[in-house]
Amino acid sequence: MLADQSPWVEAFGLAHPMLLHAPLGLLPALALFEFGPLLLRREPQRGAVQALAVLNGIAGALAMASGLVLGGSHRGELVTEHKIGGIVLGGLCLLVMVLSFRSGRLPLRLALLGAFGTMFYTGHKGGEITHGKELENALRRLFGASEPTTDGARPPKPLQPAATDTATTNGATAAAAATDFATLAQPVLERVCVSCHNPDKRKGELLLTTREGIEKGGENGAVVVAGKPDESLLVTRCELPADHDDHMPPKDKKQPTAEEIAALRRWVLAGAKF
Ligand code: HEC
Repeated sequence: MLADQSPWVEAFGLAHPMLLHAPLGLLPALALFEFGPLLLRREPQRGAVQALAVLNGIAGALAMASGLVLGGSHRGELVTEHKIGGIVLGGLCLLVMVLSFRSGRLPLRLALLGAFGTMFYTGHKGGEITHGKELENALRRLFGASEPTTDGARPPKPLQPAATDTATTNGATAAAAATDFATLAQPVLERVCVSCHNPDKRKGELLLTTREGIEKGGENGAVVVAGKPDESLLVTRCELPADHDDHMPPKDKKQPTAEEIAALRRWVLAGAKF
């Protein structure tokens, strides 16, 4: 956001997560009114479609404009993808509005289908900005695929002697065979940390979604000291008592399991390799 932005403009930008829900409801309603009657071999009610299309055009334009204000100076792949999707979607909502007043139905229907598809893409990218890739990772776990690695599949490295600790569950035992980031640390960070430490939020100035971010650390400097988990904030702040002010994640939020903290510890102990 721009520093000299008026409070009105700023509030408009911050209203984006609320405003975007209007087209999210109106678009399916519009599709239902346009395509529903076809199933019953009737003509769509033009008046209803036009009224919804006007509301949706306005709502779409507001959602897009507020998003551009909110995301103004943010960079990063996800934000850019979401932004492009939002601009296309806002444009399609306006196009649907204009086309609903023309007599030919085909252009309207094509634009409506386009808007519908774009809505899913844009909504999904927006969700990833606020919630991280939780959905993608859950699906990967569900279908047995491994988490994506940064440099393709690497053969598991033998465990260093000092790192044989409390691995008891199946998952932790399997992970004990490897010492790399993608196997040990990344799944934990993605499950419980990146919702706050991502390009869009960066709580404590700390980015946990990229190697550069993790190596750079947060507002108080490095969070990982290779080989020394007890000096690595990434580990120690999770191990603090839950009611300690510095405990991570904050106490009312989703917490890592003991195995997950052990996995972070093991990754740092083994040299914090990526
Ligand atoms: C609900 C949001 C939230 C979640 C989830 C979260 N954090 Fe944080 N984190 C914060 C906030 C806010 C700060 C800055 C204030 C502070 O230092 O306590 C912070 C700061 C930190 C810092 C200190 C950075 C510095 O240089 O001062 C570390 C390390 C950290 N978090 C690690 C983690 C880890 C590891 C996880 C996952 C196990 C995690 N956080 C999950 C909100 C979160």
